[in-house]
Amino acid sequence: MDKFVIRGGNPLVGAIRVSGAKNSALPCMAAAILTEDPVTLENMPQVRDIETERRLLQSMGAEVELREGEAQDRTTICCRALSDPVAKYEIVKTMRASSLVLGPLVARAGMARVAMPGGCAIGGRPIDLHIKGLEQMGAAITQEHGYLEARADRLRGTHLVFDKITVTGTEDLLMAAVLAEGETVMENCAREPEVGDLAALLTAMGAQIEGAGTSTMRVRGVTGLHGAQYHIHPDRIEAGTFLVAGAITGGDLVVTGCNPEHLGAVIAKLREAGARVEGMGADAVRVRGAEKLRGADISTEEYPGFPTDMQAQYMALATQADGMSLVTENIFENRFMHVQELVRMGANIKVDGKTATVRGPARLSAAAVMCSDLRASASLVLAALVADGESILDRVYHMDRGYERIEEKLSGVGAQIQRLGNLFAPRMSETISEKTTA
Ligand code: UD1
Repeated sequence: MDKFVIRGGNPLVGAIRVSGAKNSALPCMAAAILTEDPVTLENMPQVRDIETERRLLQSMGAEVELREGEAQDRTTICCRALSDPVAKYEIVKTMRASSLVLGPLVARAGMARVAMPGGCAIGGRPIDLHIKGLEQMGAAITQEHGYLEARADRLRGTHLVFDKITVTGTEDLLMAAVLAEGETVMENCAREPEVGDLAALLTAMGAQIEGAGTSTMRVRGVTGLHGAQYHIHPDRIEAGTFLVAGAITGGDLVVTGCNPEHLGAVIAKLREAGARVEGMGADAVRVRGAEKLRGADISTEEYPGFPTDMQAQYMALATQADGMSLVTENIFENRFMHVQELVRMGANIKVDGKTATVRGPARLSAAAVMCSDLRASASLVLAALVADGESILDRVYHMDRGYERIEEKLSGVGAQIQRLGNLFAPRMSETISEKTTA
């Protein structure tokens, strides 16, 4: 199992480039199920979750072309034949976002068998809202042997009101609605930019969607969709992680190839904490550290609020800030797995329910630590970048699920980070057995 060895103390200086958004690429790949024509996606991040979804689609009979070499960020998926509309447990257990194939499979093939994802490191991750929505659209759903089976000759339009805002739930049902008979009105939808990315691809494929990016979408079902080519937007969480890296190390970092408009809540908080952050044109942000960072509270919310996917990284920064920072996690029930490891490195953090109280600045000292999930790994990398000495991070496969060549990117701006073990290859063949998070 790969490890990172990180020697702390270097300010990060220079330019660092953001890859395409994993959480946009995943639903966009699932959208290819909706047509017999090829769908070409550009700016695909070379991360493990994308490879997992590629295997998932291939296991259903799809042809997935991934070009070698320079054009690796371009993938063409052709779902002409969907011989086996089943998402097997062996694949679903490593990536909860696999439930994204449920809606498109029922819409296109009239049936889907998808393994129930179960819990994961950051808490129970139900898909009841996906199920409820599909039932409302006329699907008959049964559950047996850990699998969920959904059937419908043709889904029909309906009025859906989400009880709770769900990102992949909104995406899954949007993909179901585009081929349904009649109009579907979806209320209380997630407004995350990744939903907008998916809606833009679906529109390019011939879907009729109004209100994408807002909390109410209206979808007029069509009888068929065609192929399309689509460029995935930059990853706002990777960009946010780099901004924290610049601020925490007291560096001067330009994060390029990002969309500053999607980073509003993160940039506002970094400024409140004392970092100097400025936009540099339409697709770059410069961050400079402060003489002294100061404590600032965050509370995670749905977009456009502070993203739960940035909570762990922000907490690493808060350990270096002067005073107290309250970090409140409202989206997931158990997303403080990084706390114990940060404490082992010398951080002063107390958790009470959904709020962590961080007191700083703490002198972090290098330690051997364990990554527990994707964003927790990023938090530990950030802490190790400022810790005194050489930290060893175990289980970095969590990091590889969502960060492309992170060690190369960070060492390019001055970090001392090295991978031990097999170099991460985008088409790794081994299967991860532990439960992982989206
Ligand atoms: C997506 C992101 C993930 C991010 C999360 C919240 C992807 C692939 N993953 O995950 O990185 O952390 O959004 O921004 O895009 N819930 C239910 N019933 C459901 C569905 C969700 O109760 O049927 C609850 C969840 O338990 C959670 C909340 O709703 O408490 C939000 O979850 P959701 O937005 O669905 O997260 P994901 O889409 O899985």
